[in-house]
Amino acid sequence: MNVAILISGTGSVMQAILQHFAICDKLKKITFFVITNNPNALGINKALQLGFKTITINHKDYKTRLDFDNALNAKLNDLQIDFVVLAGFMRILTPNFVSCWSGKMVNTHPSLLPAFKGAHAVKDAIDYGVKITGTTVHWVSPDVDAGKIIAQDFVFIETEETEESLHAKIKQKEQILYPKVLQSLLLAK
Ligand code: GRF
Repeated sequence: MNVAILISGTGSVMQAILQHFAICDKLKKITFFVITNNPNALGINKALQLGFKTITINHKDYKTRLDFDNALNAKLNDLQIDFVVLAGFMRILTPNFVSCWSGKMVNTHPSLLPAFKGAHAVKDAIDYGVKITGTTVHWVSPDVDAGKIIAQDFVFIETEETEESLHAKIKQKEQILYPKVLQSLLLAK
């Protein structure tokens, strides 16, 4: 089975997934490809150091969102990808692209959805004053952060919490929850 992990940034969640799958014998039949839209993504080096192939499709090379999504889709098809894992991929995908991968694409989001959708979920949770937030693994649907929820875990928000400290706590949870969820989804295939 071929699995694409899509990243845009530091790739700590991607790293946890790759490391989890590398130590689990049953999962070694899965081939991972790391794809990024950001040529400067720190996650590229993390993936290379772990011995994985990385591919950059710079969204700035495409005039429209649709053009970028078409290029991404073509690459996924070339690589005969069976399943797509979004791990800090900071691009909104067009509904056409999403429907091509319906039931075969998941995401992790740093809040307890349906609360705090969007790119500023961690800050929004602090600003709103909630005392508990967390992470959600969900299927990707055309509406952003609205697909069916697969799994969640929570963290407490302390009084002196900053966006940075809270996101670090949430990422720790994501690094445990997401690989586990992927293991059960991919083994069932
Ligand atoms: C995670 O918090 C994920 O939920 C969000 O982006 C972050 C990715 O972090 N979508 P990293 O790039 O894996 O460190």
